[in-house]
Amino acid sequence: MPITFRAILVAVATHIPGLQNITMQRTGGTSSARYCYSVWLRHLSMLHQSGLPTRFGTVVEIGPGDTLGVGLAALLSCADRYVALDSVRYAQADRNLAVFDKLVELFKDRTAIPDDAEFPLVKPRLSSDTFPSDVLPTGHLDRILYPRRQAAIRDALKDAGGTSTAAGLLSYVAPYAKDSIEDQVADLVISQAVLQYPSDLPSVYREMDRWLKCGGVVSHQVDFKSHGVTKEWNGHWACSDWLWQAFQGKRRGQLNREPHSAHLRMLTSLGYRIVCDNRVVSASRLSRSQLAPRFAHLSDTDLTTSGALIQAQKPGQLHAW
Ligand SMILES: C[S@@+](CC[C@H](N)C(=O)[O-])C[C@H]1O[C@@H](n2cnc3c(N)ncnc32)[C@H](O)[C@@H]1O
Repeated sequence: MPITFRAILVAVATHIPGLQNITMQRTGGTSSARYCYSVWLRHLSMLHQSGLPTRFGTVVEIGPGDTLGVGLAALLSCADRYVALDSVRYAQADRNLAVFDKLVELFKDRTAIPDDAEFPLVKPRLSSDTFPSDVLPTGHLDRILYPRRQAAIRDALKDAGGTSTAAGLLSYVAPYAKDSIEDQVADLVISQAVLQYPSDLPSVYREMDRWLKCGGVVSHQVDFKSHGVTKEWNGHWACSDWLWQAFQGKRRGQLNREPHSAHLRMLTSLGYRIVCDNRVVSASRLSRSQLAPRFAHLSDTDLTTSGALIQAQKPGQLHAW
């Protein structure tokens, strides 16, 4: 049996009244300002390294989790407007405000990017963790970090919610629906540890394409591991559909099990230019004969890709903002 004992216990617990919500009550790291700062600056540094834009009119984040900290870091460094879309409303005003105040200090101090020693599981890895002064020079940060703008973001945070309007500095829509956001408003769509979840991934990619302006960019860090459900990190590809479903129980955040190549295929079929494909390579201990029929076609690259930062650009000219 490739399933871990813990995953069996969790699956059973999700069927017991009162224990149904034991999965994903909190989502991960975004309660920590240093985590959010690190995640944002890693995406930004990689965009710069890929020769992609690093100044944005509107940044849309999908799946921010416990706070809006990643998008707040974007607003404090190089974005005019931030829209957060989540399937569950995790972020609360008090946590957002606490993270925001710490982020301001981190940017004012030009703090080095918190590294793998502090956040060993966070990807992508960077070759240098020094503050990216080439992307965010002092003059630029001084212009964007002025007190009235900070006060405006704090005010918007107290009342973040409802719908996304083109005029707003900040919107948090959770749960969001197809019409929660206008067409072609985003310069950047970002996600961290999210795209392994949506059950209908092609429709999420089509939606993101609808939000993005021509020439706009996506930056997604995706985790392809089985999240401890199976003994091997890639053992989810050895589970038949019925076995996998049985051990998901009613857990929140069920993995879609889409491999790395599926993301590249969806983006290229929409005409995107893949500019960065930063894979985390992990050894596979599965033999091909163990793969479930649905995953028998997986390439050796898929079977050994446990995570990837994928950055891609939508065809066409980026509109001035
Ligand atoms: C593991 S958490 C990651 C949270 C945060 N990005 C971080 O780095 O800690 C996954 C997040 O994705 C969200 N999510 C899952 N499926 C989603 C979907 N189809 N659309 C939007 N958000 C989704 C969850 O609600 C949750 O906030």
